[in-house]
Amino acid sequence: MSERTTVSIPDLIAQKGKEKIAVLTAYDAPSARILDAAGIDVLLVGDSVAMAVYGEPSTLTASLDALIRHTKAVSGAARRALVVGDMPFLSYQASPADAVRNAGRFLAEGGCGAIKLEGGRRVLPAVEAILSADIPVMGHVGMTPQSFRKFGGFKVQGKSAGAAEEILQDAVALDAAGCFAIVLECVPEALAERITSTVSVPTIGIGAGPHCDGQVLVYHDLLGLSGDFRPKFVRRYAELAPVIEDAARRYLEDVKSGAFPSRDETFAPDAPPLRRVY
Ligand code: KIV
Repeated sequence: MSERTTVSIPDLIAQKGKEKIAVLTAYDAPSARILDAAGIDVLLVGDSVAMAVYGEPSTLTASLDALIRHTKAVSGAARRALVVGDMPFLSYQASPADAVRNAGRFLAEGGCGAIKLEGGRRVLPAVEAILSADIPVMGHVGMTPQSFRKFGGFKVQGKSAGAAEEILQDAVALDAAGCFAIVLECVPEALAERITSTVSVPTIGIGAGPHCDGQVLVYHDLLGLSGDFRPKFVRRYAELAPVIEDAARRYLEDVKSGAFPSRDETFAPDAPPLRRVY
């Protein structure tokens, strides 16, 4: 197997202002392999797995063990992209010691290169503790989905001058603490532009307009696998749901009619053992 040349943290920081950073979520090995081969810079194993994959109404139900398992699958398949594991609800809020232990599990068991967590100044003790264990941290401010109950729903944040200032100060604090990048989720474009020109590290936007240093989308949204969920900030680059449905219908027909499998599609008794490689 050839040597892995992964995207490094210094590479990403150096991209600020020079080359936009493309981030997608990934939750399993086959999709990670495809996104990695396409050249996506960062694969985020988001706690959005709870909604996108498990069909739950929020990210609050994502468990640490499940996130680490998904992270291991993605890390095992990615050759080049930086893999970032997303710390789920309650895995970093209780104490900085907990936060370090749980962040460490993402690297040690999940094989990723960094973690992401939500929040600004109020999670600074956890961020600093994790960074002091040499675990790279991606910050996340604005509409942080783990706080949706406090926000009264998944709503744009930072609309008033005061709220915008708070989010800016959160981003400044994360930058000063040593985060290598900061996700800006669902904030006004002008605020995202202001934060991007203020902080020294790349900003990664979702629903935050075009001025961020990079963008992130959820895999299932990109590919049209999210049903009727069509927020304005999602551009669907494919509509895979009808393609999959069509394949399933044709398979159904062939099984019912006996057209599948043919003799050629039958496992030969002397065939070598099968092995899936991602
Ligand atoms: O969990 C997730 O997928 C995220 C991104 C949308 C930023 O946090």
